[in-house]
Amino acid sequence: MRLHVIRDGDEVVSTITVGRGVDASLTDAVGTDPQRKVAVLCQPPTFDLAMRYTNLFASLGLDASGYTLPDGEAAKQISVVEEVYRHLNSRSFTRDDLVVGVGGGALTDVTGFVGGTYLRGIAVVYVPTTLLGAVDASIGGKTGVNVDGKNLAGVFKHPQAVIVDVDTLDQLPVEQRVQGAAEAIKTGCIADIGIVEAYERSPRAPDLEDVVNRSIAVKVAVVTEDFTEQGRRAILNYGHTVGHAIETVTGKSHGEAVAIGMVAAGAASARMLGFGGVRRQADVLSAVGLPTKAPDVPFASVRAAMALDKKRDASGLRMVLLRDFGSPEVVTVDDATVRAALDAIGVG
Ligand SMILES: NC(=O)c1ccc[n+]([C@@H]2O[C@H](COP(=O)([O-])OP(=O)(O)OC[C@H]3O[C@@H](n4cnc5c(N)ncnc54)[C@H](O)[C@@H]3O)[C@@H](O)[C@H]2O)c1
Ligand SMILES: [Zn+2]
Repeated sequence: MRLHVIRDGDEVVSTITVGRGVDASLTDAVGTDPQRKVAVLCQPPTFDLAMRYTNLFASLGLDASGYTLPDGEAAKQISVVEEVYRHLNSRSFTRDDLVVGVGGGALTDVTGFVGGTYLRGIAVVYVPTTLLGAVDASIGGKTGVNVDGKNLAGVFKHPQAVIVDVDTLDQLPVEQRVQGAAEAIKTGCIADIGIVEAYERSPRAPDLEDVVNRSIAVKVAVVTEDFTEQGRRAILNYGHTVGHAIETVTGKSHGEAVAIGMVAAGAASARMLGFGGVRRQADVLSAVGLPTKAPDVPFASVRAAMALDKKRDASGLRMVLLRDFGSPEVVTVDDATVRAALDAIGVG
């Protein structure tokens, strides 16, 4: 069992527990005050797990009940948030009560949005049940719902606690583990080669407890330095400038698009910063089962989607590049570099 802590100055704002068999950590986080109401939010695939936790809380004397949201991104809507508010109203929730979110990144994003806004802020606990949720979405206090575009409404809100049960992650369908691997390997490339090595040793069945702990440690360090994304937090976007464009243009999943985006960013890194790890990065992504080439799409549409990227400013397109594994830099890239980056993924 490992504990990670997010601090704001001297104050602990969030704790993250990673282990196997985490019921005791979860009940510690929730407490045993019989006056306390607990709402356990889930989606259909996590219903059984959420019910198990709800029953566990009830067995401790808490007033606990479950509430099921629509699955996946369908939950990330203002109308769903409003339904959750009404559910909490119907149970006369106060600021002393607690919302627990059991599910993937979409579910924890909505849970956090509710937590940041209901009664102007109520405590939330996350139990991330996907690898991407565990290493990325549940860590760092960003929440969001979709309004036409993705995550266009959100608040910064740290969960009081995040409880990651590695046994749950080990049982995930293989596609889910591959999606999450893209973000874990990204984290490895920017800040901890040990994650890359874990996937190199065992591409299909890495030690997830190690991978998750290492990935969380990096994200915690980066977020602690830069909670609201002015500076250093940007390095977490490695692979995402081209990745988001590929996701938009081709409809590829986020994880696959990020893998392709990392290959493009690797090529740009080699050109601008002399990065020597292009081959190694592509090899580990392939070994895991992630793509390294884009589907057949026109250069112009990918370039246009990149131009809409949030990280563009007056000086041009800014990308996170690597001087070496573990040495990311935010660099303004010229057109020739963009061409080289897209050429490396077969878009030219
Ligand atoms: N807040 C952040 O910082 C942040 C960072 C990255 C991503 N995100 C968000 O996370 C979301 C993606 O998260 P995701 O990849 O976890 O997808 P997801 O939450 O949509 O989950 C994918 C599917 O897996 C199901 N599922 C969840 N746990 C399962 C389990 N244990 N077994 C079987 N099925 C399970 C889900 O119900 C869903 O159907 C996006 O909405 C994205 O915007 C947020
Ligand atoms: Zn991502």
